[in-house]
Amino acid sequence: MSEKIIIEGGHKLNGTVMMSGAKNATVALIPAIVLAEGPVTVFGVPEISDVEALATLLRELNCNVETFENHIIVDPTHLQSVPLVSDAVNKLRASYYFMGALLGRFSYVKMKMPGGCYLGPRPIDLHLKGFEALGAKITCDEDGTYEIYAEELIGTKIYLDFASVGATINIMLAAVKAKGKTEIENAAKEPEIIDVANMLTKMGAKIRGVGTDTITIEGVDHLGGCYHEIIPDRIEAGTFLILAAAAGERIVVQNVIPQHLDSLISKLKEMGVKMEVSGDSVVVYGLESSLKAVDIKTQPYPGFATDLQQPLTTLLTQATGQSIIEETIYPERFKHCAELNKMGADIDIHSGYANINGKTKLKGANVCATDLRCGAALVIAALIAEGETEIGNVYHIDRGYDNIDHKLIMLGARITRIEREDN
Ligand code: EPU
Repeated sequence: MSEKIIIEGGHKLNGTVMMSGAKNATVALIPAIVLAEGPVTVFGVPEISDVEALATLLRELNCNVETFENHIIVDPTHLQSVPLVSDAVNKLRASYYFMGALLGRFSYVKMKMPGGCYLGPRPIDLHLKGFEALGAKITCDEDGTYEIYAEELIGTKIYLDFASVGATINIMLAAVKAKGKTEIENAAKEPEIIDVANMLTKMGAKIRGVGTDTITIEGVDHLGGCYHEIIPDRIEAGTFLILAAAAGERIVVQNVIPQHLDSLISKLKEMGVKMEVSGDSVVVYGLESSLKAVDIKTQPYPGFATDLQQPLTTLLTQATGQSIIEETIYPERFKHCAELNKMGADIDIHSGYANINGKTKLKGANVCATDLRCGAALVIAALIAEGETEIGNVYHIDRGYDNIDHKLIMLGARITRIEREDN
């Protein structure tokens, strides 16, 4: 049985919506806990299925895990080094953070290749090269199970060919207990990386330079427990800003760090969306006049986030003229376009590009969330479409959006969720 959601389009949304803790920080913070020798409490944990999968993996490693509302308490005192080969590994991409964290803790890790959304090829060569530079040896069997071990991890200089989020965090996790100094050059600068470094620092790690091109880590012998509160989810917030521009009258998006959304906010303003940014909230006013077409190019932070490219595509179908999206991070991340075309959009896809010809009237259809942010793009489309839209493969959306149905219903959306028999 899988679930689908049915959305009746055309109802204007109003009200206030609160953002949850950042998914892409959470999925690194939870594996990072295995580096601690005492209990760690993390606040602001979003209610998403990726967290459940990571909690399962922590339990497999013999951690005591308790979750209450929006926090998780993990006691890794009796942590054991066991191979991570269960289905939980495949449920998300970020299970690969256990590679760096367990390597840092035990100088050994055995786990199978992680899963996650298909966005085109997603190699982990930069992670592995980083581990090797720290002195690890790596084997991978025919089933894709990695075994990574080192007699001792020794700090060194690592230049990343690309400023990869995952590689930056994974190398940081492996290096915090390595002997001596590690320098990661051409490091990624996403806010989630800073959040992970902040928690590691509370645990006793010595890290400088996060948020710049060069991160310097002085290895320490022990890391202890701590309390940490996760930063707000900038991608969830960005999704709601776009959704508010498309389907809202006046929507207040709260628990936001507006600076994290600078590239989106400036594009929305260029399109003609009216917004008021203040402190930790953004007020978005729905459309009174027509939207202008704009071009976007996805780039590592602080450039335009690839994760917001898909939801923004939906809004661009409502802009007059042709918008061009250049996707430089995942050139194949355009599966949502075929689904939007089923609803009446006019989008041509070329290698690494999408041309969106607007404005088009969207109509309800049967569509499928092929990945997490495709799901978000379709929810926005369904809210503005004429008639009813059925979105299948909702589990992709549940991987990354905390209680999205509830948040939307509170704003006035008509959504129902039903189970359906799989063929
Ligand atoms: N890359 C390599 N080799 C590597 C690692 C990355 O070639 O070893 C390439 C990738 O193929 C891709 C680019 O580098 O073309 C960027 O990959 P990156 O490593 O930065 O991405 P990631 O860590 O796999 C995270 C987020 C993604 C988000 C990207 C880019 C998590 C768990 N995932 O992925 O989030 O799109 O950064 O910002 O943090 C999402 O939330 O929907 C999502 C997919």
